[in-house]
Amino acid sequence: MEGLVHATVNGITLAYSDTGSGLPIVFLHAFPLNRTMWTQQEAALSSQFRVITIDLRGHGESDAPLWHYSLDQAADDVRALLDHLSIAQALFVGLSMGGYILLALYRKYPDRVRGMVLADTKAQADLPEGKAGRFQMAQIAYKQGSPAITEIMIPKLLSPATIQTRPEIVQRVRTMIEGNQISGIAGDLMAMAERPDSVPFLKQITSPTQIIVGELDQATPPADARLMAEQIPNAKLAIIPNAAHLANLEQPEAFTKIVAEFAGKLA
Ligand code: MLT
Repeated sequence: MEGLVHATVNGITLAYSDTGSGLPIVFLHAFPLNRTMWTQQEAALSSQFRVITIDLRGHGESDAPLWHYSLDQAADDVRALLDHLSIAQALFVGLSMGGYILLALYRKYPDRVRGMVLADTKAQADLPEGKAGRFQMAQIAYKQGSPAITEIMIPKLLSPATIQTRPEIVQRVRTMIEGNQISGIAGDLMAMAERPDSVPFLKQITSPTQIIVGELDQATPPADARLMAEQIPNAKLAIIPNAAHLANLEQPEAFTKIVAEFAGKLA
């Protein structure tokens, strides 16, 4: 299998990386980042599994058309990429917005999901003030550009200790955010504002599910993870110490180990 490749799906070009062989594991990144947030997981897991990381529509090296974005459309892009790769079923790992997209994918195409890792994400929809905040952030992106989004997002994504002592992680996040186009950033914000409440749907999930959360996550705190773990039949919950929202970047070994053990049981 190859590294970075491009495919035309649903009328746009998607960039993705496809490495290793075995059970396919598809990684869906957070807002407003790109597939390189999974570099450590890809390196560690591709000796045992087929690891696919995608730049979702609007991110990284994928197209970012100025258009109406939705999480269902992102799920359709992922399904079309699976078709392109002739993958019938995969284990999906979605972090934060990637988790919202994973829930949308499961709702539309449950047969494609062998298992789910819902990381640092939540099932609830936005409250009215949260929705208004999305549109305010889209305005900031439009008026001030992606560096202003970096300033807002870094304290939401990383723990204070990481921000103070691990400048290389802060720089990685900054580079990912500032590599995105405003059309994609604003498109995501509007898509997330529109997402439905998935809480009533959780009880219907029959796919094996692992939930992960950083103990310091304030954007989607452990309480949100516990709610999913209580509602999804047989779901497992892992809480990672010394990690905030981007638990896979702040504690990559711990995160990867949980995914590897879960994937090992499904392979
Ligand atoms: C993310 O990390 O994807 C975002 O923080 C999700 C959100 O804003 O709801």
